[in-house]
Amino acid sequence: MNVTLRGRTGHFRTVSFDAENNSVRLIEQRLLPHEFKIVGTNDFRETARAITDMVVRGAGAIGATAAYGLAQGARAFRGNDLKQFSARLDLVYQTLAEARPTAVDPVNAMNEVRRAMARGETVAERQALALAAAEEFAHEDVRHCEAIGRHGAKLIRNGMKILTHCNAGWLAFVDVGTATAPLYAAQSQGKKFHVFCDETRPRSQGATLTAWELAQQGISHQIIADNAAGHLMQRGEIDLVMVGSDRVLGRTGEVTNKIGTYTKAVLAARHKIPFYAAIPLSTIDWNLKRGFDIPIEDRHESEVLGAWGVMAKPMADGRWPMGKRAYVRVANPTSGARNPGFDVTPAELITGIITPAGIFQPAELWKHRHRLGFAG
Ligand code: MRU
Repeated sequence: MNVTLRGRTGHFRTVSFDAENNSVRLIEQRLLPHEFKIVGTNDFRETARAITDMVVRGAGAIGATAAYGLAQGARAFRGNDLKQFSARLDLVYQTLAEARPTAVDPVNAMNEVRRAMARGETVAERQALALAAAEEFAHEDVRHCEAIGRHGAKLIRNGMKILTHCNAGWLAFVDVGTATAPLYAAQSQGKKFHVFCDETRPRSQGATLTAWELAQQGISHQIIADNAAGHLMQRGEIDLVMVGSDRVLGRTGEVTNKIGTYTKAVLAARHKIPFYAAIPLSTIDWNLKRGFDIPIEDRHESEVLGAWGVMAKPMADGRWPMGKRAYVRVANPTSGARNPGFDVTPAELITGIITPAGIFQPAELWKHRHRLGFAG
């Protein structure tokens, strides 16, 4: 998407690859919205760490990062021995797959890269195929998001107030985003609407990333505290909820998404407000049979006990210059915290799943599996 900084506008992708230096290029999302910076990772372990530490985050973006990371690891191999090459590749795959467990996109993306590589007969051929397949995954992610925009824009009418949770915007994908794609498409059709961004504690992706994206695109929006949605729904101030997902079960229609999504889905059902999840095909898990088996990432308690931000005022003694990034402890210093990163929303609470192939009821995914990329 376009980013305007100090009056200059440029087009950026969240993730890209520098083939000359065998480096994955990432927007450093932990610094946004206060600083826009691109960083590079120089080997697959650094790439995996960037995923774990959330330099890059969001299902599609970490999918593309893992695909590029696999290609990066493959291209760093020296020699012609296919057996050694394949053992190395297993290690790279495993390291990247373990970087974050809940989103299925990294594994789906790397499986695509591996399938493409199998067509090569030499190490050099496989290395070239790996990068081509990773690039194709990234391009496809963008095409999928654009198609989601075309389908999802039909749900948006003039004057609507739309709630979104966390960030399923272009920063969570290679470009465009999923939950935001219908917003951007509706905006380009001249529709007027307003978006409420859930703050999304503990990491505040709604307040920092979604709000920044919408501000960059000139879309009317406000950040709300996570606990405010029920009140707004009760007062008729939310007409539609649109979220992304990190893993949708193709067999059951259950939707895994950022912690707090389930709560919003329950509230939306209580108030008869349509609740949609938007996903590219790489977010569908055709294997797992029940949501309870989805690995839910437990993150460090420091995320709940405090918050990252920038100093908004100089301190009385002048020690912290304004704008300096800092972690502040909010909670009682002797208390611990529990920090599950995601939750699973049952199919019956979801009105529809917006995919690149159209909008489906969650229970219909399996029936349409061949249109939706099921390879089995
Ligand atoms: O922990 P994150 O920031 O990687 O979580 C991912 C998310 O932003 C959300 O769950 C999102 O709605 C789905 S990812 C497209």
